[in-house]
Amino acid sequence: MISNEIKIAPSLLSADFGALSQAAAVCSAAGAEHLHFDVMDGRFVPNITFGTHPLRALRPFSDAVFEAHLMILEPERYVVDFVKAGAQIVTIQPEATVHIQRTLSLIRQAGAKAGLALNPATPLSVLDYILDDIDLLLVMTVNPGFGGQEFLPAMMQKIKDARALIDSAPHTIELEVDGGIGPGNAAEVVAAGATVLVAGTSVFGHAGGAAEGIRALRASYTV
Ligand code: DX5
Ligand code: ZN
Repeated sequence: MISNEIKIAPSLLSADFGALSQAAAVCSAAGAEHLHFDVMDGRFVPNITFGTHPLRALRPFSDAVFEAHLMILEPERYVVDFVKAGAQIVTIQPEATVHIQRTLSLIRQAGAKAGLALNPATPLSVLDYILDDIDLLLVMTVNPGFGGQEFLPAMMQKIKDARALIDSAPHTIELEVDGGIGPGNAAEVVAAGATVLVAGTSVFGHAGGAAEGIRALRASYTV
């Protein structure tokens, strides 16, 4: 894997919510290829964050690919709204919807790329028969709901298994990791096959600011 193919997706969950436009602009200027929006409903996960509004409001401040990570029950009710608000990738959790394939199709029909995010305990076999329907596989490396958690070590093997699985697909599927990603483990997850790194705390919690956090993260896996 060539390291310059790796994309960084800062998670706004860890940004200053009083200055989101600045956070979006700084990440874009620092070269972060994606911007990650963690949408939580207080039902699928304990936390509540936001709906479509920040995506629409922040679009003028960033050139990054906007990705909405929907940690909400019945995401089929909202995926089209997120595409209309500016999400270029909409990622749903299979544990949160009865009709996974139909929801993935809805996202593509609306004009965005379709992602599937798996909780740590959800096996890759959920992808049997629907590999054609996804453009991105997100391996959750923490249990969703909060920023600032520790990377679960058992997920390293899952990333490797996910890489082998998506390499068998005839079309390109990004492999994203989310939760506890930072300079201490980025090289290892990239070596395991990840191509998109979500990073909240390690970017926005960096003592030198978000741009420095992005730089340090990229430097940690660039050979
Ligand atoms: C967790 C979210 C993550 C989280 C990552 O539910 O999906 O995107 O914000 O934050 P860090 O990088 O702090 O683990
Ligand atoms: Zn996320």
